[in-house]
Amino acid sequence: MTTTNHNPYLKGNFAPISDEVSVDDLPVTGTLPPELNGRYLRVGPNPTGPDETGRGHHWFVGRGMVHGIRLRDGRAEWYRNRFVHGDVPEESPNTNILAQGGRLLALVEGGGAPVSIAPDLNRMATWDADGALQDGFTAHPKIDPTTGEMHSVNYLIRPGAQHLRYVVLDATGKATHTAELPVCGVPMVHDMAMTATRVVVLDLPVTLSTDAVDRLKAGTPQHGDALPMRWNEEHPSRVGVLPRGGTADQLTWIDAPRCYVFHVLNAYDAPDGSIVMDVVRHDTVFRDVFRGPADALPALARWTIDPNRGTVREQIVSDHSVEWPRINPDRVGHPHRYGWFGAVGPDGLRLSGDIDRDLGGSFQPGPLVKLDTTTGETTTHHFGPGRATQEPTFVARPGAESEDDGWILSVVHDGNTNRGELVVLDAADITAAPVARVRLPRRVPFGFHGNWIADNEIGA
Ligand SMILES: [Fe+2]
Repeated sequence: MTTTNHNPYLKGNFAPISDEVSVDDLPVTGTLPPELNGRYLRVGPNPTGPDETGRGHHWFVGRGMVHGIRLRDGRAEWYRNRFVHGDVPEESPNTNILAQGGRLLALVEGGGAPVSIAPDLNRMATWDADGALQDGFTAHPKIDPTTGEMHSVNYLIRPGAQHLRYVVLDATGKATHTAELPVCGVPMVHDMAMTATRVVVLDLPVTLSTDAVDRLKAGTPQHGDALPMRWNEEHPSRVGVLPRGGTADQLTWIDAPRCYVFHVLNAYDAPDGSIVMDVVRHDTVFRDVFRGPADALPALARWTIDPNRGTVREQIVSDHSVEWPRINPDRVGHPHRYGWFGAVGPDGLRLSGDIDRDLGGSFQPGPLVKLDTTTGETTTHHFGPGRATQEPTFVARPGAESEDDGWILSVVHDGNTNRGELVVLDAADITAAPVARVRLPRRVPFGFHGNWIADNEIGA
């Protein structure tokens, strides 16, 4: 007797796929911008076998699978999907994929090392920055748009772990700085923020549950135990402000609103010395629902962090339910106006048709949303009945002069045909008809994060 079929994250377009395919010359509707020479890559969990799909299954856990769409000179040359594997089989990052130092890297948090992937997706190897990543890495490092430097806050999911590890890699991928930052109770640190001068560390009340760890060890997991992190009423909610390249003695902790933040849209230094940080806040996660982040609907909030006064002021930017926040990557650490998001929750369910209606929780993919953080105004691109997207990716038009001059790429799931589609929108006006649509030969399961990797980042 198994409860597998009752886990919503193993059903519909959350369900894994079992094989790897390569298909050339994909059909395109509209006109692919010839400037888009590179690959749109996404990664997500693709659980296989009873250990990964049993009673304890959590959406965030399972072997990684990368999906790639190669664009060149206005054509969609190929689609490929591959299981991610490092030097040993259990190394299979499933959360993000990006380029650094000319390498394509699949990433996961909590202790796993990155896996370096060849541009054709056919060769892979574990990569640990010459031993600098002894506590694993994060899925959400921040890349300085001017220097290419990458800042990361990393943690180990391990009972008794007592620090986070702040690691800076230079533009070639060489570690140039590392510092241990003491914390208590093994908080889940999914993201961080970086400004032009400082980094912000999130220490929020979701921590390692020793009960869940014990159940896993005993082979008697309950729902969601595969990710043994739970809402913890006893744990503080705080942000740590640290100079870039700083050490623990320079860290200032400040009480923050009680909530959980998976994702930061961006942060920047304000003239008065405070930090403006836009975050997607969930009132709680893993308090009521353990298999995915479905306790409450998330919303974009602006935190103004004043390290001198030791305060965080919170203002809700928009009550539209959104996740997967992305900005123009040239704005990382600097003032921004726009964010692009995937809508989630009842809006997503209502607007996207009947996809996975039995999910029942709030984490339901839907349309794409652009948000003007200066006004709170939103515009939406609806993909049609039964069609939903997740994370948008912004790609600047060469020579762009305004923040939103470029394209939005995202993979849309079509529940009517059970296939995926790469949709290219005009980032300045996402309400317009798509610039181009690339039909994919199969569905791309709802996963986590993706990026556009131009040929000049990793070679053709
Ligand atoms: Fe994430």
